[in-house]
Amino acid sequence: MSSYSSYKEATMYSIFKVADKYVKKILGNDSSGHDISHCRRVQKNALLISEKYNCDRDLISLTALLHDIDDEKIFSCTGHSHLIEFCSYNNLPEDFLNKMIAIIDFLSLDKKDDNISIETKIVQDADNLDALGAIGIARMFAFCGANGVVIYNGTDRDSLSHYYQRLKKLPALMNTPYARAEAGRRLQYMNDFIEQLKKEI
Ligand code: ADP
Ligand code: NI
Repeated sequence: MSSYSSYKEATMYSIFKVADKYVKKILGNDSSGHDISHCRRVQKNALLISEKYNCDRDLISLTALLHDIDDEKIFSCTGHSHLIEFCSYNNLPEDFLNKMIAIIDFLSLDKKDDNISIETKIVQDADNLDALGAIGIARMFAFCGANGVVIYNGTDRDSLSHYYQRLKKLPALMNTPYARAEAGRRLQYMNDFIEQLKKEI
């Protein structure tokens, strides 16, 4: 494998296109909230956040797009087999693959750590933003529907419980000021939705 620095912009551009197709092939029919549109939104928001930082945008963009292709919640296999296959097929350098793996592994820990790279912080923020707001509501119920969880039964095992157990905590997990502010707005929207839902049920 050649070194990442030898890659030209044009090469990366075509890799993004191939990656988008690959993600669509792997996740296209997922009904638990991890479909291609989730990956594209994470990519778009990660790039938006990245504008204010001196960082590796190619790494952010490609990792954001590919971050869920080996998700253990969707695929029974563990490890990074799809990601490795993609990088190998497209002759991406090994150091680039390893950087992507480090970011994706951190996402699965679901924690805050100020010492992680700026690229990791940005992809984590973009992924977590997509769990909030109107799209967050849609994904929460889609995830539960796909996994046989009831909408509401007043216990800590219904769909709404995820809001209290995880989603409410996400603004505090955000790394960048942009994502923290946007997360606060999206959480308020979810809060209003849940207040209304409670009035109806
Ligand atoms: P991602 O890293 O893409 O957010 P997750 O698998 O953690 O992937 O979550 C996918 C979506 O499903 C998110 O919107 C998340 O809030 C929702 N979700 C995950 N686990 C649950 C759960 N136990 N109950 C309800 N929604 C969930
Ligand atoms: Ni994701």
